[in-house]
Amino acid sequence: MKNYSILIVDDEPLIRESLYEILRMEGYQAHMAKSGEKAIKTLKEHEIDIVITDLKLPQMSGLDLLKVIKKECSSEVILITGYGSVESAVEAMKEGAFDYITKPINDNEIKIIINKIIEKRKLIKENQILKEIIEKQCPSSFCGMIGSSEKMQHVYHIIDSVANSNATILITGESGTGKGMAAKAIHESDQSRKNKPFVEISCGALSETLLESELFGHVKGAFTGAIKDKEGRFEYGNGGTIFLDEIDAFSPNLQVKLLRVLQDGVFERVGDNLTRKTNTRIIVATNQTLTDLVVQGEFREDLYYRINVIAVHMPPLRDRKEDIAAIVEYYLKKYSKVNNKEIINVAEDVMQMFKNYSWPGNIRELENAIEGAVIMTKTNTINKLDLPNLSKFEQPPTASLPPLPSGEVSLKKVVEEPEKAHIIEILNGCNWNRNKAAATLGVNRTTLYNKMKKYKILDQKTL
Ligand SMILES: Nc1ncnc2c1ncn2[C@@H]1O[C@H](COP(=O)(O)OP(=O)(O)OP(=O)(O)O)[C@@H](O)[C@H]1O
Ligand SMILES: [Mg+2]
Repeated sequence: MKNYSILIVDDEPLIRESLYEILRMEGYQAHMAKSGEKAIKTLKEHEIDIVITDLKLPQMSGLDLLKVIKKECSSEVILITGYGSVESAVEAMKEGAFDYITKPINDNEIKIIINKIIEKRKLIKENQILKEIIEKQCPSSFCGMIGSSEKMQHVYHIIDSVANSNATILITGESGTGKGMAAKAIHESDQSRKNKPFVEISCGALSETLLESELFGHVKGAFTGAIKDKEGRFEYGNGGTIFLDEIDAFSPNLQVKLLRVLQDGVFERVGDNLTRKTNTRIIVATNQTLTDLVVQGEFREDLYYRINVIAVHMPPLRDRKEDIAAIVEYYLKKYSKVNNKEIINVAEDVMQMFKNYSWPGNIRELENAIEGAVIMTKTNTINKLDLPNLSKFEQPPTASLPPLPSGEVSLKKVVEEPEKAHIIEILNGCNWNRNKAAATLGVNRTTLYNKMKKYKILDQKTL
């Protein structure tokens, strides 16, 4: 049996049935319809490779049927025309018909056209398979993460290789590089967990007490405000994945508790004696250098080794500039749709500026830039003037830094002092509104908060 299906549409039973017989004898799966309307019904019910239709049909014409087919499915169409209606046949070809034959039908002629269609479809199929193989080996995106650079290929490869293990994973990288996305991708690629909960907790955003109760749960009366028993995320996420973002914010007490979950899979609710078991996969992330925190005594070394079984490092955008164009295209499409606009591209000089810029806020900053520009633009191209923060792109990378001090100075001093000064300047400019300052700096609130903590910048509003 040739694995192709053909639908014959003709109101004349003699032509319809004789074609049907010929095609069945050739080994095709043949279907018949006596009108355009009936043909559409068959097309909805079966997968049809080829439609052979008479041009003249009682109600809906063959040409109208052709238009519907070209709009809604991928079948190829051969038209049958009466002697002398070549003009309509030419029109049909313009509408996308594969070929036409004139009555009286010649069996050989129709078989030759069908073979040509089959060859074409085979080629398309082969190309598709080849494309899929190449994409699988070298994906340009993975679970929503865009980028085909070598650095991202490495990330995809690690995620794909470790997803189905139970190993704890440490995701590192600057703010906005896609750590959250990578964690989600691991969960979604994990066949045994993907249908179970994915629990995400921003550890830096919660106080120690709240974080402890959030993770492990509590019993009634464990602390003021604990009015009833509550299950924690480790219980809720059982069988799934828990993503602990900003793991560096864990207090020493919580570090011990997490170590116990990692080693023995057990914990107690706050204020409870009952030891509970959990089978939750743990993924942690940080934009800090954990080894520095270990050296400074702020992070337990044994915990560090436990969570660092497999590390995924998300590269900063400035190290994979070849991905910028694809990311821009993706967010142009996304925000055009959101804003009901049709924006096709960014001007060449804008793309060049994007490539020269260092993107300290990484993809989040790029995404925000595109979103802003899509809102601003009045044409279908993003031009320089559509960028709300144009000046930051035009500054040479070192322009905002003070002159380097002479003599031997540590790298830390050279990098951190200007950073601190810049943060204070922006905070001042935003009247110490952290949301605004974080947005201006192209980082999220937590990152800004961590930097303020690190540089001991006191909030002027609370002084
Ligand atoms: N490869 C990517 N392709 C497309 N969008 C991305 C990619 N990586 C990140 N993003 C987008 O950038 C934004 C920031 O990503 P995400 O929150 O995962 O970063 P992060 O590293 O967790 O940042 P933070 O440290 O600030 O929490 C999100 O809106 C996300 O959708
Ligand atoms: Mg994140």
